[in-house]
Amino acid sequence: MKKRVLVVTTGGDCPGLNAVIRAIVKRAGRERNWEVLGSIEGYHGMLQEPMEIIQLDSSRVSGIHVMGGSIIRTTNKGGPFNWPVKNPDGTWTAVDRSDELVRRLQYQNIEAVICIGGDGSQKISQQLFEKGVNIVGVPKTIDNDLSCTDLTFGFQTAVEVATDAVDKLVTTATSHSRTMILEVMGRDAGWIALNSAVAGGAHIVLIPEIPYDITKVVGKIQDRIDLGKEFAIIVVAEGAKAIGGGIVGTKSSQVGYENIVLGGIGRKLMGEIKKYLDIEMRVTVLGHLQRGGIPIAYDRILATQFGVKAFEMVLEGKFGQMAAYKGDDVISVPITEAIAKMSLVEPDNYLVKTARGIGICLGD
Ligand code: F6P
Repeated sequence: MKKRVLVVTTGGDCPGLNAVIRAIVKRAGRERNWEVLGSIEGYHGMLQEPMEIIQLDSSRVSGIHVMGGSIIRTTNKGGPFNWPVKNPDGTWTAVDRSDELVRRLQYQNIEAVICIGGDGSQKISQQLFEKGVNIVGVPKTIDNDLSCTDLTFGFQTAVEVATDAVDKLVTTATSHSRTMILEVMGRDAGWIALNSAVAGGAHIVLIPEIPYDITKVVGKIQDRIDLGKEFAIIVVAEGAKAIGGGIVGTKSSQVGYENIVLGGIGRKLMGEIKKYLDIEMRVTVLGHLQRGGIPIAYDRILATQFGVKAFEMVLEGKFGQMAAYKGDDVISVPITEAIAKMSLVEPDNYLVKTARGIGICLGD
Protein backbone atom coordinates (compact mmCIF):
# COMPACT_ATOMS: atom_id res chain seq x y z
CA MET A 1 0.00 0.00 0.00
CA LYS A 2 1.26 3.44 -0.92
CA LYS A 3 2.09 6.07 1.69
CA ARG A 4 -0.34 8.97 1.71
CA VAL A 5 0.26 12.69 2.02
CA LEU A 6 -2.71 15.05 2.36
CA VAL A 7 -2.63 18.58 0.93
CA VAL A 8 -4.84 21.35 2.31
CA THR A 9 -5.14 24.98 1.18
CA THR A 10 -6.51 27.16 3.97
CA GLY A 11 -7.15 30.87 4.54
CA GLY A 12 -7.72 33.41 1.77
CA ASP A 13 -6.78 32.25 -1.71
CA CYS A 14 -3.69 33.49 -3.49
CA PRO A 15 -2.24 33.21 -7.01
CA GLY A 16 0.15 30.23 -7.03
CA LEU A 17 -1.76 27.78 -4.82
CA ASN A 18 -2.28 25.45 -7.77
CA ALA A 19 1.36 25.67 -8.77
CA VAL A 20 2.32 24.43 -5.26
CA ILE A 21 -0.20 21.56 -5.48
CA ARG A 22 1.11 20.55 -8.93
CA ALA A 23 4.73 20.60 -7.73
CA ILE A 24 3.90 18.41 -4.71
CA VAL A 25 2.15 15.87 -6.96
CA LYS A 26 4.94 15.88 -9.55
CA ARG A 27 7.66 15.50 -6.92
CA ALA A 28 5.72 12.75 -5.13
CA GLY A 29 5.28 11.00 -8.49
CA ARG A 30 9.03 10.56 -8.65
CA GLU A 31 8.83 8.27 -5.58
CA ARG A 32 7.25 4.89 -6.24
CA ASN A 33 5.45 4.49 -2.93
CA TRP A 34 3.61 7.79 -2.38
CA GLU A 35 0.20 9.08 -3.33
CA VAL A 36 -1.23 12.57 -2.80
CA LEU A 37 -4.72 13.39 -1.58
CA GLY A 38 -6.42 16.78 -1.30
CA SER A 39 -8.96 17.79 1.33
CA ILE A 40 -11.68 20.01 -0.12
CA GLU A 41 -12.02 23.49 1.41
CA GLY A 42 -9.22 23.27 3.95
CA TYR A 43 -9.80 20.74 6.72
CA HIS A 44 -13.55 20.84 6.12
CA GLY A 45 -13.21 18.04 3.59
CA MET A 46 -11.69 15.75 6.23
CA LEU A 47 -14.37 16.63 8.76
CA GLN A 48 -17.42 16.43 6.48
CA GLU A 49 -19.75 13.47 6.51
CA PRO A 50 -19.07 11.84 4.05
CA MET A 51 -15.49 13.05 3.80
CA GLU A 52 -14.57 15.16 0.79
CA ILE A 53 -11.06 14.12 -0.15
CA ILE A 54 -9.81 13.58 -3.65
CA GLN A 55 -6.90 11.83 -5.28
CA LEU A 56 -4.43 14.32 -6.73
CA ASP A 57 -2.65 12.58 -9.58
CA SER A 58 -0.74 13.83 -12.60
CA SER A 59 -3.83 14.07 -14.81
CA ARG A 60 -5.63 16.19 -12.22
CA VAL A 61 -2.79 18.68 -11.82
CA SER A 62 -1.74 18.89 -15.45
CA GLY A 63 -1.40 22.54 -16.51
CA ILE A 64 -2.85 23.97 -13.28
CA HIS A 65 0.26 26.02 -12.43
CA VAL A 66 -1.10 28.86 -14.58
CA MET A 67 -4.48 28.91 -12.88
CA GLY A 68 -5.52 31.23 -10.04
CA GLY A 69 -7.51 30.00 -7.02
CA SER A 70 -7.20 26.47 -5.62
CA ILE A 71 -8.49 23.33 -7.33
CA ILE A 72 -9.19 21.93 -3.84
CA ARG A 73 -10.79 25.20 -2.72
CA THR A 74 -10.07 27.00 0.53
CA THR A 75 -11.77 28.75 3.42
CA ASN A 76 -11.00 31.38 6.02
CA LYS A 77 -13.96 30.48 8.23
CA GLY A 78 -13.67 28.12 11.17
CA GLY A 79 -11.16 25.27 11.37
CA PRO A 80 -10.60 22.03 13.31
CA PHE A 81 -10.13 23.86 16.63
CA ASN A 82 -12.97 26.25 15.94
CA TRP A 83 -15.66 24.34 14.11
CA PRO A 84 -18.98 26.23 13.96
CA VAL A 85 -22.00 24.18 15.09
CA LYS A 86 -25.56 25.49 14.93
CA ASN A 87 -27.54 25.35 18.19
CA PRO A 88 -31.29 24.55 18.21
CA ASP A 89 -32.03 28.25 18.87
CA GLY A 90 -30.20 29.26 15.67
CA THR A 91 -27.06 30.60 17.39
CA TRP A 92 -23.62 29.15 16.64
CA THR A 93 -21.01 27.65 18.96
CA ALA A 94 -17.38 26.91 18.08
CA VAL A 95 -16.38 23.31 18.88
CA ASP A 96 -12.93 21.74 18.98
CA ARG A 97 -12.90 18.84 16.47
CA SER A 98 -9.13 18.51 16.31
CA ASP A 99 -9.04 15.09 18.06
CA GLU A 100 -11.57 13.81 15.57
CA LEU A 101 -9.45 15.20 12.72
CA VAL A 102 -6.38 13.38 14.06
CA ARG A 103 -8.39 10.12 14.27
CA ARG A 104 -9.71 10.58 10.75
CA LEU A 105 -6.19 11.18 9.40
CA GLN A 106 -5.05 7.94 11.07
CA TYR A 107 -8.07 6.04 9.78
CA GLN A 108 -7.27 7.21 6.23
CA ASN A 109 -3.64 6.08 6.71
CA ILE A 110 -2.40 9.60 6.05
CA GLU A 111 1.27 9.75 7.01
CA ALA A 112 1.73 13.49 6.59
CA VAL A 113 -0.12 16.72 5.89
CA ILE A 114 1.13 19.68 3.83
CA CYS A 115 -0.72 22.84 4.78
CA ILE A 116 -0.47 25.73 2.31
CA GLY A 117 -1.58 28.78 4.26
CA GLY A 118 -0.80 32.10 5.92
CA ASP A 119 -0.08 32.93 9.55
CA GLY A 120 -3.51 31.90 10.89
CA SER A 121 -3.28 28.59 9.04
CA GLN A 122 0.25 27.90 10.22
CA LYS A 123 -0.87 28.54 13.83
CA ILE A 124 -3.34 25.68 13.29
CA SER A 125 -0.49 23.61 11.73
CA GLN A 126 1.55 24.08 14.89
CA GLN A 127 -1.38 23.06 17.11
CA LEU A 128 -1.92 19.93 15.00
CA PHE A 129 1.81 19.16 15.12
CA GLU A 130 1.62 19.34 18.93
CA LYS A 131 -1.18 16.77 18.72
CA GLY A 132 1.14 14.41 16.85
CA VAL A 133 0.24 15.20 13.23
CA ASN A 134 3.20 15.00 10.83
CA ILE A 135 2.72 18.40 9.27
CA VAL A 136 4.71 20.63 6.92
CA GLY A 137 3.80 24.26 6.17
CA VAL A 138 4.03 26.24 2.93
CA PRO A 139 3.86 30.05 3.34
CA LYS A 140 1.05 31.71 1.39
CA THR A 141 -0.33 35.24 1.45
CA ILE A 142 -0.48 38.15 -0.93
CA ASP A 143 0.24 40.40 2.07
CA ASN A 144 3.79 38.94 2.42
CA ASP A 145 3.53 39.28 6.20
CA LEU A 146 4.83 35.84 7.25
CA SER A 147 8.14 35.80 9.12
CA CYS A 148 11.18 33.65 8.36
CA THR A 149 10.66 33.77 4.61
CA ASP A 150 11.85 36.61 2.39
CA LEU A 151 8.75 36.19 0.25
CA THR A 152 5.43 34.40 0.14
CA PHE A 153 4.09 33.34 -3.25
CA GLY A 154 1.21 35.45 -4.59
CA PHE A 155 2.69 38.68 -3.29
CA GLN A 156 4.52 39.67 -6.48
CA THR A 157 1.38 39.00 -8.53
CA ALA A 158 -0.59 41.31 -6.23
CA VAL A 159 2.12 43.98 -6.56
CA GLU A 160 1.90 43.66 -10.34
CA VAL A 161 -1.89 44.14 -10.27
CA ALA A 162 -1.61 47.15 -7.94
CA THR A 163 1.18 48.71 -10.03
CA ASP A 164 -0.88 48.29 -13.18
CA ALA A 165 -3.72 50.11 -11.37
CA VAL A 166 -1.39 52.99 -10.40
CA ASP A 167 -0.20 53.26 -14.03
CA LYS A 168 -3.78 53.45 -15.24
CA LEU A 169 -4.79 55.99 -12.61
CA VAL A 170 -1.88 58.24 -13.61
CA THR A 171 -3.19 58.68 -17.16
CA THR A 172 -6.75 59.47 -16.11
CA ALA A 173 -5.56 61.68 -13.22
CA THR A 174 -3.39 63.80 -15.53
CA SER A 175 -6.12 64.31 -18.10
CA HIS A 176 -8.60 65.47 -15.45
CA SER A 177 -6.17 67.17 -13.03
CA ARG A 178 -7.42 65.01 -10.18
CA THR A 179 -6.04 63.44 -7.03
CA MET A 180 -6.62 59.71 -7.17
CA ILE A 181 -6.65 57.43 -4.14
CA LEU A 182 -5.96 53.73 -4.69
CA GLU A 183 -6.90 51.42 -1.78
CA VAL A 184 -4.96 48.16 -1.87
CA MET A 185 -4.89 45.08 0.36
CA GLY A 186 -2.60 44.85 3.37
CA ARG A 187 -4.28 44.15 6.69
CA ASP A 188 -1.26 44.51 8.97
CA ALA A 189 1.58 45.01 6.51
CA GLY A 190 2.02 47.69 3.87
CA TRP A 191 4.20 45.68 1.49
CA ILE A 192 1.79 45.76 -1.46
CA ALA A 193 1.13 49.48 -1.02
CA LEU A 194 4.79 50.39 -0.64
CA ASN A 195 6.02 48.29 -3.57
CA SER A 196 3.30 49.42 -5.97
CA ALA A 197 3.74 53.07 -4.93
CA VAL A 198 7.45 52.94 -5.72
CA ALA A 199 6.96 50.94 -8.93
CA GLY A 200 4.09 53.11 -10.17
CA GLY A 201 5.50 56.47 -9.07
CA ALA A 202 2.81 57.46 -6.55
CA HIS A 203 3.29 60.65 -4.55
CA ILE A 204 1.92 59.48 -1.21
CA VAL A 205 1.76 56.01 0.32
CA LEU A 206 0.06 55.22 3.62
CA ILE A 207 0.71 51.91 5.35
CA PRO A 208 -0.50 50.28 8.59
CA GLU A 209 2.96 50.44 10.17
CA ILE A 210 3.23 54.25 9.89
CA PRO A 211 0.08 56.01 11.16
CA TYR A 212 -0.44 59.13 9.07
CA ASP A 213 -0.75 62.79 9.94
CA ILE A 214 -3.40 64.24 7.61
CA THR A 215 -1.66 67.64 7.55
CA LYS A 216 1.45 65.94 6.07
CA VAL A 217 -0.68 64.30 3.38
CA VAL A 218 -2.39 67.61 2.58
CA GLY A 219 0.99 69.40 2.64
CA LYS A 220 2.37 67.04 -0.02
CA ILE A 221 -0.60 67.62 -2.32
CA GLN A 222 -0.33 71.39 -1.76
CA ASP A 223 3.40 71.27 -2.62
CA ARG A 224 2.50 69.67 -5.95
CA ILE A 225 -0.18 72.27 -6.62
CA ASP A 226 2.35 75.03 -5.81
CA LEU A 227 4.71 73.51 -8.38
CA GLY A 228 1.96 73.70 -10.98
CA LYS A 229 1.35 69.92 -10.94
CA GLU A 230 -2.34 69.39 -10.81
CA PHE A 231 -2.61 65.70 -10.19
CA ALA A 232 -1.49 63.39 -7.39
CA ILE A 233 -1.62 59.66 -6.75
CA ILE A 234 -2.10 58.23 -3.25
CA VAL A 235 -1.77 54.52 -2.51
CA VAL A 236 -3.30 53.51 0.80
CA ALA A 237 -3.23 50.05 2.39
CA GLU A 238 -6.62 48.87 3.67
CA GLY A 239 -5.17 48.57 7.20
CA ALA A 240 -3.71 52.12 7.30
CA LYS A 241 -4.87 54.48 10.03
CA ALA A 242 -4.45 58.11 11.07
CA ILE A 243 -2.36 58.92 14.15
CA GLY A 244 -4.66 58.24 17.09
CA GLY A 245 -7.29 56.71 14.76
CA GLY A 246 -8.43 53.16 14.13
CA ILE A 247 -8.73 50.84 11.17
CA VAL A 248 -11.74 51.21 8.87
CA GLY A 249 -13.89 48.12 8.42
CA THR A 250 -16.95 46.20 9.51
CA LYS A 251 -17.54 43.14 11.62
CA SER A 252 -18.50 40.16 9.49
CA SER A 253 -21.82 38.41 10.11
CA GLN A 254 -20.47 35.21 8.55
CA VAL A 255 -20.19 32.33 10.96
CA GLY A 256 -16.60 31.44 11.85
CA TYR A 257 -15.08 34.53 10.16
CA GLU A 258 -13.05 36.23 12.84
CA ASN A 259 -11.33 39.11 11.03
CA ILE A 260 -12.75 42.59 10.63
CA VAL A 261 -13.68 43.03 6.95
CA LEU A 262 -11.42 45.92 6.04
CA GLY A 263 -12.38 48.55 3.50
CA GLY A 264 -13.22 52.23 3.36
CA ILE A 265 -9.97 53.92 4.36
CA GLY A 266 -9.68 55.43 0.85
CA ARG A 267 -13.08 57.13 1.10
CA LYS A 268 -12.36 58.27 4.68
CA LEU A 269 -9.07 59.76 3.56
CA MET A 270 -10.76 61.62 0.71
CA GLY A 271 -13.17 63.18 3.22
CA GLU A 272 -10.28 64.24 5.47
CA ILE A 273 -8.31 65.82 2.60
CA LYS A 274 -11.39 67.70 1.37
CA LYS A 275 -11.63 69.48 4.73
CA TYR A 276 -8.37 71.24 3.78
CA LEU A 277 -8.27 71.36 -0.01
CA ASP A 278 -10.90 72.14 -2.59
CA ILE A 279 -9.68 69.66 -5.20
CA GLU A 280 -11.31 67.03 -7.38
CA MET A 281 -10.72 63.51 -6.10
CA ARG A 282 -11.74 59.93 -6.87
CA VAL A 283 -11.25 56.66 -4.97
CA THR A 284 -10.55 53.22 -6.46
CA VAL A 285 -10.71 50.11 -4.28
CA LEU A 286 -8.72 47.30 -5.89
CA GLY A 287 -9.98 44.57 -3.54
CA HIS A 288 -9.91 40.94 -4.58
CA LEU A 289 -8.58 41.67 -8.08
CA GLN A 290 -5.24 41.42 -6.25
CA ARG A 291 -5.98 37.86 -5.17
CA GLY A 292 -7.54 36.42 -8.32
CA GLY A 293 -6.27 35.52 -11.76
CA ILE A 294 -3.13 33.90 -13.03
CA PRO A 295 0.10 34.06 -11.04
CA ILE A 296 2.96 35.90 -12.72
CA ALA A 297 6.00 33.81 -13.70
CA TYR A 298 7.88 34.77 -10.52
CA ASP A 299 5.13 33.38 -8.29
CA ARG A 300 4.73 30.21 -10.37
CA ILE A 301 8.43 29.54 -9.91
CA LEU A 302 8.42 30.35 -6.17
CA ALA A 303 5.30 28.23 -5.65
CA THR A 304 6.87 25.33 -7.55
CA GLN A 305 10.02 25.59 -5.43
CA PHE A 306 7.90 25.52 -2.26
CA GLY A 307 5.92 22.49 -3.48
CA VAL A 308 9.03 20.44 -4.25
CA LYS A 309 10.63 21.48 -0.95
CA ALA A 310 7.50 20.66 1.06
CA PHE A 311 7.33 17.11 -0.29
CA GLU A 312 11.07 16.63 0.29
CA MET A 313 10.54 17.81 3.88
CA VAL A 314 7.92 15.06 4.22
CA LEU A 315 10.44 12.50 2.91
CA GLU A 316 13.05 13.79 5.37
CA GLY A 317 10.61 13.82 8.29
CA LYS A 318 11.00 17.57 8.84
CA PHE A 319 7.63 17.95 10.53
CA GLY A 320 6.54 21.02 12.44
CA GLN A 321 8.58 22.97 9.89
CA MET A 322 7.69 25.39 7.11
CA ALA A 323 9.34 25.84 3.72
CA ALA A 324 10.89 29.30 3.49
CA TYR A 325 12.65 31.38 0.85
CA LYS A 326 15.89 32.83 2.18
CA GLY A 327 18.48 34.57 0.04
CA ASP A 328 18.48 32.43 -3.07
CA ASP A 329 17.65 29.21 -1.28
CA VAL A 330 14.57 27.35 -0.12
CA ILE A 331 15.08 26.11 3.42
CA SER A 332 12.96 24.76 6.27
CA VAL A 333 12.26 26.70 9.47
CA PRO A 334 10.32 25.77 12.62
CA ILE A 335 6.66 26.82 12.27
CA THR A 336 6.90 28.25 15.80
CA GLU A 337 9.43 30.82 14.52
CA ALA A 338 7.36 31.70 11.46
CA ILE A 339 4.25 32.44 13.54
CA ALA A 340 6.01 34.13 16.46
CA LYS A 341 5.73 37.57 14.84
CA MET A 342 4.60 39.10 11.58
CA SER A 343 6.88 40.42 8.89
CA LEU A 344 5.96 44.10 8.90
CA VAL A 345 7.51 47.07 7.09
CA GLU A 346 10.13 48.46 9.47
CA PRO A 347 10.53 52.27 9.39
CA ASP A 348 14.20 51.84 8.44
CA ASN A 349 13.52 49.29 5.69
CA TYR A 350 15.48 50.16 2.57
CA LEU A 351 12.35 50.40 0.44
CA VAL A 352 10.96 52.97 2.90
CA LYS A 353 14.22 54.90 2.55
CA THR A 354 14.01 54.54 -1.23
CA ALA A 355 10.45 55.87 -1.25
CA ARG A 356 11.46 58.84 0.87
CA GLY A 357 14.56 59.28 -1.32
CA ILE A 358 12.43 59.86 -4.40
CA GLY A 359 10.13 62.24 -2.55
CA ILE A 360 7.22 59.93 -1.75
CA CYS A 361 5.36 61.10 1.37
CA LEU A 362 4.60 58.37 3.92
CA GLY A 363 2.23 60.58 5.86
CA ASP A 364 4.66 61.22 8.74
O1 F6P B 1 -4.74 38.06 4.06
C1 F6P B 1 -4.81 38.55 2.79
C2 F6P B 1 -5.97 39.44 2.60
O2 F6P B 1 -5.91 39.67 1.25
C3 F6P B 1 -6.00 40.74 3.41
O3 F6P B 1 -5.20 41.74 2.90
C4 F6P B 1 -7.46 41.08 3.37
O4 F6P B 1 -7.84 41.92 4.43
C5 F6P B 1 -8.09 39.76 3.49
O5 F6P B 1 -7.21 38.84 2.85
C6 F6P B 1 -9.47 39.69 2.90
O6 F6P B 1 -9.87 38.36 2.88
P1 F6P B 1 -11.35 37.86 2.58
O7 F6P B 1 -12.09 38.92 1.86
O8 F6P B 1 -11.18 36.62 1.80
O9 F6P B 1 -11.94 37.55 3.88
